[in-house]
Amino acid sequence: MKKVFITLVVCLAVFVACTNDKEELLNPSGNDCTGVNASFANDVLPIIQAKCQGCHGAGSTNGPGQLTNYNEIKNAAAKIRTAVVTGYMPKVGGPLPSSEIKMIKCWVDSGTPNN
Ligand code: HEC
Repeated sequence: MKKVFITLVVCLAVFVACTNDKEELLNPSGNDCTGVNASFANDVLPIIQAKCQGCHGAGSTNGPGQLTNYNEIKNAAAKIRTAVVTGYMPKVGGPLPSSEIKMIKCWVDSGTPNN
């Protein structure tokens, strides 16, 4: 009986931990972009260069195609936001660390400025 109880507690703990992870993934650090000044040049572009351009470089036809400059990234911004927030992208090695997800999310939500 004691074993059954312990098993139940462990299962519940694992379930709660996983549920929290998912919540954390969909809303990185809450949904709060207050005080986050996400810069295209300093934050977003370096992340995309490091984590995406292997598959979305020049000549790519994967999904939105190449993501190499401001216009290409801006035009795909809504899809990029969904893909990184859900962890669908990067396709290999994902999801991104929550700090990077937050930067991309906050940059898109602030209107994709070329800053
Ligand atoms: C290992 C290769 C690889 C990496 C790395 C990668 N992608 Fe992709 N991506 C793909 C492929 C292949 C597709 C098209 C097939 C699919 O949607 O699964 C795609 C599709 C997409 C789509 C379209 C999804 C949709 O809703 O149709 C977006 C947006 C995207 N990628 C953004 C990104 C971003 C942003 C990164 C970096 C954080 C990234 N990808 C990293 C291979 C990659």
